[in-house]
Amino acid sequence: MKNVLVTGGAGFIGSNFIHFLFDKEPEVKVVTLDALTYAGSLENLKDLPDASRHTFIEGDICDREVVEDCIRQHRIDTIIHFAAETHVDRSILGPAPFIQTNVIGTFTLLEAARQFWLDEGGVERQEIRFHHISTDEVYGSLEPDEAAFTEETPYTPNSPYAASKAASDHLVRAYAHTYGLPITITNCSNNYGPRQFPEKFVPLIIFNAQVGKRIPVYGDGRQIRDWLYVDDHCEAIWRVVKDGREGETYNIGGNNQPTNLELVELLCAILDDVLPKSHFAPHKNLITFVADRPGHDRRYAMDISKIGGELGWEPRENLESGLRETVDWYLRNSEWVDSIEKQPSYATWLEANYLNRGEGS
Ligand code: NAD
Ligand code: TYD
Repeated sequence: MKNVLVTGGAGFIGSNFIHFLFDKEPEVKVVTLDALTYAGSLENLKDLPDASRHTFIEGDICDREVVEDCIRQHRIDTIIHFAAETHVDRSILGPAPFIQTNVIGTFTLLEAARQFWLDEGGVERQEIRFHHISTDEVYGSLEPDEAAFTEETPYTPNSPYAASKAASDHLVRAYAHTYGLPITITNCSNNYGPRQFPEKFVPLIIFNAQVGKRIPVYGDGRQIRDWLYVDDHCEAIWRVVKDGREGETYNIGGNNQPTNLELVELLCAILDDVLPKSHFAPHKNLITFVADRPGHDRRYAMDISKIGGELGWEPRENLESGLRETVDWYLRNSEWVDSIEKQPSYATWLEANYLNRGEGS
């Protein structure tokens, strides 16, 4: 693992992963391939400790020529594939980019990797790895008393986002089975932490609460997610890439499953604590129930015994410690927050998703 290609490295998890890798592995060179959609920003990659080890390429993973040139020129031996359209609500309003990037983009990467690694023998077989980042959402929704998702749980994706991720997972698996491409897949739960675009729930709450805007909670707020601090996720990915068994899938989760309402209340209490002079405290007064997301999955939970048993990984952060770190980062990085708030496309998104939304239950 000398020359690592990170797709989607200017986004939330990808950029945190690159920061993690730079701290952890001083010998590794990283090439980031990212189309810089609304969700990607070079701000996320500034201040890397040794910039000479990093090459940024602005490009689309659906563009075969760009992908092939990148893999060949940099003699890539490891691909860690984060690039995707990632927001369920956007996939409901407009699914086409999800099919394009998540399905066609993954297919394009797999084809380019197959050609350079397997057909041309561009890199020694024992050095190569295609690692695909996926989600717990491919497993569908759990009933209240159902056991947590394992790696054997049948796929039942419910949103266009989840269906596009499921399709990409199947393609990756098929390339291992058919062509012998050395792959691993991780399916993780809801991440939170620094540099997350504020369309997702945790940063949206922090953004809105700070300026006294309402905090929109879908439906009755009793949906359950498993929340994973992003640094814990990065560590788990690297363990799987280095020591995971070829061809295997590993579930990654944070070992906590609050309801959405419990999550918001905890986050509001943390904000009250760190911003005692805020005009908007107690921040929980900003909570507003709004109409539910169509087809909203009720409950996710991850069984993480496989990665724990085989690779000795478990999350370090609990929900409160992780949320405190997250709030601290957003408060210290007001320039980053301002740069997002100034994007006209962010205001357009808030309007499209929330303006004409009815009341919740
Ligand atoms: P993100 O939306 O923050 O970032 C996605 C990145 O991909 C952006 O930098 C964007 O510019 C880039 N991108 C999008 N389309 C592209 C294309 N066609 N070509 C090149 N680059 C493109 O996403 P994230 O939250 O960091 O998620 C990363 C991965 O983790 C995704 O595959 C996602 O499905 C998976 N995942 C995320 C979560 C979560 O909670 N965020 C949970 C489970 C799985
Ligand atoms: P989100 O962060 O969009 O992640 P995902 O849909 O991938 O789980 O949403 C997390 C949970 O929070 C989900 O149950 C939907 C809910 N939610 C709200 O209640 N209000 C909001 O404004 C958003 C964005 C999400």
